[in-house]
Amino acid sequence: MVVPVAELHMHIEGSLEPEQIYQLAERNRIDLPYRDIDDLRSRYEFTDLQSFLDLYFANMAVLRTAEDFADLTRAYFRRAAAAGVAHAEFFFNPQAHVARGVPLSAVLEGIMDAVSTSEREFSISSAAIAAVLRDQPVRGAEEMLAEIIRLQAPIVGLGLDSAEVGNPPSLFEDVFARARAEGLHVVAHAGEEGPPEYIWQALDLLGAERIDHGVRALEDPALVQRLVDEEIPLTVCPLSNVRLRVFDTLSEHPLRSMLELGLIVTVNSDDPAYFGGYVDDNFAGLEKELGLTESERDVLARNSIKASFASSARKAELLR
Ligand code: HPA
Ligand code: ZN
Repeated sequence: MVVPVAELHMHIEGSLEPEQIYQLAERNRIDLPYRDIDDLRSRYEFTDLQSFLDLYFANMAVLRTAEDFADLTRAYFRRAAAAGVAHAEFFFNPQAHVARGVPLSAVLEGIMDAVSTSEREFSISSAAIAAVLRDQPVRGAEEMLAEIIRLQAPIVGLGLDSAEVGNPPSLFEDVFARARAEGLHVVAHAGEEGPPEYIWQALDLLGAERIDHGVRALEDPALVQRLVDEEIPLTVCPLSNVRLRVFDTLSEHPLRSMLELGLIVTVNSDDPAYFGGYVDDNFAGLEKELGLTESERDVLARNSIKASFASSARKAELLR
């Protein structure tokens, strides 16, 4: 019996595939700074997180209308369904779009249109998480959250992403306190490139319910104990970690050690269009390079359902 998977760490803008970049550029009459699609594809070689973020933000220029965001989100659901995903919680970056002159209302309209029909169209229950750009001024995050609250956006949580090193969670303590007071779930990227200290801060200062990535927790045994004791899930992204050079190869990825330590690990695709694939590709890579067993896969899948913000009824249905 194959247990369905919940994908909990995926940036919808990171599911923008090269073909779709070209289609949307044509639809919106945008000149791309690439010779052709192969020239674009040749740029998907990254040395670290920032080198990826530069291309990720540049390519968002093709996303202009609610329809663009709806199409993008539906394309992800279609591919995720084929990957065995039954529940998806994905990030979007409001600040990146508003800064380009795309109103938050258009972004939300498109994304929520796809979310509202995902169960019927793709048998995927879904929810969106607005992610704060941690390398932008705190004021921008405050304004984004205020606008989300004003629009009564039907999102489930607030996250923290973008360039990690030098931008600690502590900067955003007040923004996340407000989000929690509004009843939003709270998660944060921490310990991808940044130190274990940022994971402590995400837990203690932001009240993070899940840590996105968190692989550098392994450098701090007391932190590992805390994560185990408090059953804080980690949304690990193996292919992403290799493509952004957090680890040299998948065979060196510490995912198995993390499971053995008793951490609640889940497997996710992060930015599937940029990092070599979707959740199924991540599992296939782990099976091939790490010898991931069927029972380990089962544990990871069950972890993902339990770690999700789905209703208890939906979780029970998926765990059956
Ligand atoms: N890390 C931080 N920020 C991001 C990522 C990531 O992997 N993907 C998109 N924004
Ligand atoms: Zn991420």
